[in-house]
Amino acid sequence: MTAAVALEGVWHRYGSGPWVLEGLDLEVAAGEAVAVMGPSGSGKTTLLSIVGLLTEPTRGRVRLGGVPVPRSRRRDRLRAGWFAWVFQTVNVLGHRTAEDNTALGLLARGVPREEATRQARAALGQVGLAERAGSPVVDLSGGELQRVCIARAVAAAPKVVLADEPTGQLDHATSVRVLDALWAARRPDTALVVATHDPQVAERCGRILRLVDGRLIEEPT
Ligand SMILES: Nc1ncnc2c1ncn2[C@@H]1O[C@H](COP(=O)(O)OP(=O)(O)OP(=O)(O)O)[C@@H](O)[C@H]1O
Ligand SMILES: [Mg+2]
Repeated sequence: MTAAVALEGVWHRYGSGPWVLEGLDLEVAAGEAVAVMGPSGSGKTTLLSIVGLLTEPTRGRVRLGGVPVPRSRRRDRLRAGWFAWVFQTVNVLGHRTAEDNTALGLLARGVPREEATRQARAALGQVGLAERAGSPVVDLSGGELQRVCIARAVAAAPKVVLADEPTGQLDHATSVRVLDALWAARRPDTALVVATHDPQVAERCGRILRLVDGRLIEEPT
């Protein structure tokens, strides 16, 4: 089957710095959940940002659904249509409600407001926040905020969700809630690539990859 997203022979360095990624290959199938582990500085965030078309690799190629990504403006449209992010440092509009924040991605894609609101409410329900839909997000806890980000990411029905340390700043109980939310809200054909130090996160993924010396090694699960 054609991979949802694939990297082929990717090398990356920042400026004239040392190589971070050294001939890395990756294939992620639709619906697959993949954890990327590795020490701080090993290149996990770099890898995610190349997968999500935020960074162009120094060398090598990204394919989406088998098609090579062009080095052109079309990257912008592909990026918006294909990926959604869950960041560690939550990226929300504090004074706006959970519902407004969740609907943002849909509105940006041209979904009419009424429909975007309906889908945003449904997504908030899936992450257990139906009752907080009307709350300004400044009033929410860290774990609740992280769930708003998950609702926003999955509401837009991306092909691939990219999550960078989604539980990095949360206590154990809150992490479990956030992961339950992510697993409950994700559609069966949406792939997930998650960079994490958290063994709990890795355990939930069907596949664990370790970033070592700029390449990925498959871990037995
Ligand atoms: N914008 C940048 N400019 C220069 N160097 C960078 C930049 N971003 C990352 N690096 C370097 O690239 C290497 C990989 O960084 P990256 O952030 O991908 O690691 P990471 O595995 O995500 O680490 P962590 O677990 O701490 O988040 C590090 O040596 C880092 O200093
Ligand atoms: Mg990182």
